[in-house]
Amino acid sequence: MDDTPMMLDTLAVHAGRADLTPLGVHALPIDLSTTNPLPDVLRGGDSYEALATGGTVPDGGSAVYGRLWNPTVARFESGLAQLEHAATAVAFASGMAALSAALLAFAGSDGSRHVVAVRPLYGGTDHLLATGLLGTKVTFCAPDEVAGAVRDDTGLVLLETPANPTLELVSIASVVAQAGDVPVIVDNTFATPVLQNPLDHGAAMSMHSATKYLGGHGDVIGGVIACSEEHAAKLRPIRAITGAVLHPLAAYLLHRGLATLPLRVRAQQQGARTVAEWLVEHPGVAEVFYPGLRPDASGALGTQLTGTGAMLAIRLAGGAAAAAELTSRVQIFTHAVSLGGVDSLIESPAALTHRPVTAEAKPDAGIVRMSIGLEDPLDLIADLAQALS
Ligand SMILES: Cc1ncc(COP(=O)(O)O)c(C=O)c1O
Repeated sequence: MDDTPMMLDTLAVHAGRADLTPLGVHALPIDLSTTNPLPDVLRGGDSYEALATGGTVPDGGSAVYGRLWNPTVARFESGLAQLEHAATAVAFASGMAALSAALLAFAGSDGSRHVVAVRPLYGGTDHLLATGLLGTKVTFCAPDEVAGAVRDDTGLVLLETPANPTLELVSIASVVAQAGDVPVIVDNTFATPVLQNPLDHGAAMSMHSATKYLGGHGDVIGGVIACSEEHAAKLRPIRAITGAVLHPLAAYLLHRGLATLPLRVRAQQQGARTVAEWLVEHPGVAEVFYPGLRPDASGALGTQLTGTGAMLAIRLAGGAAAAAELTSRVQIFTHAVSLGGVDSLIESPAALTHRPVTAEAKPDAGIVRMSIGLEDPLDLIADLAQALS
């Protein structure tokens, strides 16, 4: 083989598995060790030092302890990093653990405690920033207000695109330009690396609630940040100290999920488009939020975001009462929070995922968010038709 980079679908199946053949195995091995044999005192101590200060296992060294390093987790990190066009990745116990580590690493020390956060954001993210729980100060702003919001003590700029719950698209390159020297982290959970690679547009880090599309089956909680080795070296010690590690069984499921990620995202996207087009015509639906149907999508769509995705939201003409009625009457959709799995979910953000956010950031109570799964879209439409009737 020459050095031509592999296509996405090939990478998704093979990335992070280079050591399997030398190991003599075909499926991803799960290493459940909490502690690891040390070659000798000197190399054991050197390994500990390297891992505790953000490095990787030195040649001939040891993984030392499960809170510092785990090979099953490292394979998933390598696979995801390749899909994200990143040098490396750091995996965490959840998406919120990943975000917390980023805040502590870049806005938790050396006087840089300020974060600029582009709204709208996932409710948990908005809440964590608004409460200042980790000692950070925040300025929430619109995408074109980032330059004015950045201060001398700003350590991190955060954005989400497509954004939760109404699928606003934010130009990553524009925010990066406004941020200057301050690293930008993009929550890429909704788009996945199949549709968007934030690092290609200048972002320093791309984070995921891996719980969603990466796992894809609603059975694993995790988080991951794809980034440079330099940024990873700041994130790993936070993970080791706070203990927010991804369990190897979870890493195994997430890595296995990567193999079918492109296939799932494209099929789910196809279904979402069909459902969105049907919803536009429904008299009970006042507004449909779906990239591609958005008037503000033209800049980012096609260049930054290469597909329309499988998340959509609607605003019901009947407001909160109609939202409550719809979510309780569906039969194929499950009324539940979370997203990105093979089965379709529906929820009311104002009542659930965005419940903790302050009044000015609260979505309209008549908005209902849907994560479209792999069911036949005609069955999903029939379900919505009966529930909306
Ligand atoms: C866009 C987005 N970011 C972050 C999170 C937090 O991830 P986790 O639930 O894995 O901690 C979520 C969870 O819903 C999310 O939707």
